[in-house]
Amino acid sequence: MGVAERSTGAYDPGCLRWEERDVPEPADGQVLVRTTLLSIDPTSRNWLKLDPDTTYIPLAVGDVMIGVAVGEVVESRAEGFAPGDLVSGLWGWGEYALASPQFIQRHERDDRIPEEAYLSVFSHVGRAAAIDLLEIGKLRPTDTVVVSAAAGATGSLVVQIAKAKGCRVIGIAGGERKCRFLVEELGAEVIGEAIAEKCPEGVDLFFDNVGGPVLDAVLANMAWNCRIVVCGAMSQYDLPGPEDAYGCTNLPLLLYKCARMEGFVAAAYAERYQEFDDLLRPLYLDGSLTARSHIVEGLVHAPESISLLLEGGNDGKLMVRV
Ligand SMILES: NC(=O)c1ccc[n+]([C@@H]2O[C@H](COP(=O)([O-])OP(=O)(O)OC[C@H]3O[C@@H](n4cnc5c(N)ncnc54)[C@H](OP(=O)(O)O)[C@@H]3O)[C@@H](O)[C@H]2O)c1
Repeated sequence: MGVAERSTGAYDPGCLRWEERDVPEPADGQVLVRTTLLSIDPTSRNWLKLDPDTTYIPLAVGDVMIGVAVGEVVESRAEGFAPGDLVSGLWGWGEYALASPQFIQRHERDDRIPEEAYLSVFSHVGRAAAIDLLEIGKLRPTDTVVVSAAAGATGSLVVQIAKAKGCRVIGIAGGERKCRFLVEELGAEVIGEAIAEKCPEGVDLFFDNVGGPVLDAVLANMAWNCRIVVCGAMSQYDLPGPEDAYGCTNLPLLLYKCARMEGFVAAAYAERYQEFDDLLRPLYLDGSLTARSHIVEGLVHAPESISLLLEGGNDGKLMVRV
């Protein structure tokens, strides 16, 4: 799948183009992988803006689109990888792709861990949830935690980790179906319009996936020393133009509440991935951490599946089976 054009304004799947290319030959230090699952992420949309200011992956028109994926090594010219190995990491959106060891991880096959989990719990998604909550957010069991896009891939893991730590967790999600999932299956509370009614003492930790007016509303309801961890800004990714960006009016309240707001990308913690995977694995294996997968069949449908994510039409981690 190639990048056909830069995508500005509202996302148009036409910015990606289906192409047939020869299966590439791995050079020294590379592996050839056969992709089985491809992660569809909000950041996929952002990378297609081809804007060095808002993305850290340099893509250009004509490049093969890239993303996080799971697959099997077919041929290896890299130390530590052999044909048949199960791997996940960053490579091109294709049935076959070349990958570099610094961007992939090898996994022992384990019947208790389906391949989908390497795109959710044991990927940038689960790691973002854990790093943001524990490292950046300094989660405490006494915290009242609010999570936006709480029924989504990242949000639902955040809800479960915070609950496992003993916190009171309140989710914000789009629509009745997602709210029911949060209450009935994850044991969280949900919020309507009035944060103040739900959190009369204020919010101790806000895990923000959406930004914009939701962030502004939480800023108005912070507890003393509140921590706001900026994991994402879904509401701001697909605007017609920069002039449409939402200006938060309640930022000065950070001062009066002695609050802290910090953003991060999971990739900045690449050297500590194993540590966070080791923390998440027991929770996953004992069932206290579950991850739903929303699977779209066929690489050809990857471009339009990005729209699904932007419309909130996904139930769980969105991925494409190649
Ligand atoms: N910092 C990192 O390293 C890192 C890593 C992974 C993900 N993220 C971020 O985490 C967030 C969630 O990503 P995900 O992959 O887990 O996706 P997801 O939550 O499974 O799906 C995205 C959800 O965002 C909500 N949404 C979409 N458009 C919105 C809008 N205009 N306003 C408010 N909400 C909107 C929808 O949920 P509702 O229907 O409930 O509104 C949608 O289902 C994104 O912001 C992403 O960039 C960051």
